[in-house]
Amino acid sequence: MNNQTILDILTQTNEYISGQALANQLGVSRQAVWKEIQSLRALGYDIESVTNRGYRLNSMPGYLNAHAVKAALNTKIIGSELTVLDSVGSTNDYLKQRGAEGCKSGAVAATREQTKGKGRLGRTWQSKRDENIAFSVLLRPEIAPSESASVTPLAGLAVCKALRDFTGLDCRIKWPNDVIVGRKKLCGILTEMSAEFDAVEYIVLGIGINVDQAVFPDEIAYKATSLLLETGRHYDKNKLLAAMLEHLEAELFRDNFKMSQTALNEYTDLCATIGKGITFTRGSRRINGMAVDVAENGELKVMLSDGSICSVYYGEVTTQGIY
Ligand code: BTN
Repeated sequence: MNNQTILDILTQTNEYISGQALANQLGVSRQAVWKEIQSLRALGYDIESVTNRGYRLNSMPGYLNAHAVKAALNTKIIGSELTVLDSVGSTNDYLKQRGAEGCKSGAVAATREQTKGKGRLGRTWQSKRDENIAFSVLLRPEIAPSESASVTPLAGLAVCKALRDFTGLDCRIKWPNDVIVGRKKLCGILTEMSAEFDAVEYIVLGIGINVDQAVFPDEIAYKATSLLLETGRHYDKNKLLAAMLEHLEAELFRDNFKMSQTALNEYTDLCATIGKGITFTRGSRRINGMAVDVAENGELKVMLSDGSICSVYYGEVTTQGIY
């Protein structure tokens, strides 16, 4: 077969296409077409065949797959190169490797399962087969490393907006970039960067969303939730991933990876941390304060007990009433 596949052809139309037409377009025999259709059906593709009319794709499998994501996707840059892996250690590690090999900006890697998923601050991130969405986006912004701090909060804003639009849930952002519902975490973001002294080589944004997970390990059960637990519904992971990629493109490219005033206002409105008592760490000290604002570069502004304002850039922040 040439580079085009049967799915490429069937996903582009709602009409029936004859076995002969498929064979001609692909440069293979009708027998090869028939065999491939059987394999696709075994994978969960509902392909109808009608005598004298041909084949038509009625539905795609519910698990993450590149064809279904592409069919729902409307972006220019993010996802222009899109891979859905069957299983991988970590999509961040996979894309960092691809980044070092020179893959283009906007490349996306998603997976049905991660076996060594990574969270922030050296933690692990669980993504069991077909339960959740785990994906990473590689970006090559022409900015200095010092200007990259706004990329993660912009991604948090994009994912929060996508989840609100897609599910109707009242999702909020726990600074810096967890997306929460009520008091529990629905989504986490891990950003990694490769940079020279004065220029970013690439940034890998890794995003994990709990979709169908019904049970969490004891140590995180009190603070973790999923779309299934919040709504009782199973969402289409392929369409949801496409929606997230669209929101990421809109937010990240709105002002060339900078936090525009509009984005900052939206972030601030959605940020559940602002106005709450928080605890953060400085070296070995735990400090209490009140989160009062978020700055353009994504820093959290915190009022301390003596009335002074300090900036928190990174690390673990416990927010009163959340986690
Ligand atoms: C966190 O909140 O601690 C961040 C979690 C980030 C998880 C995602 S899943 C896809 C990507 N690959 C990884 O190994 N981690 C990120």
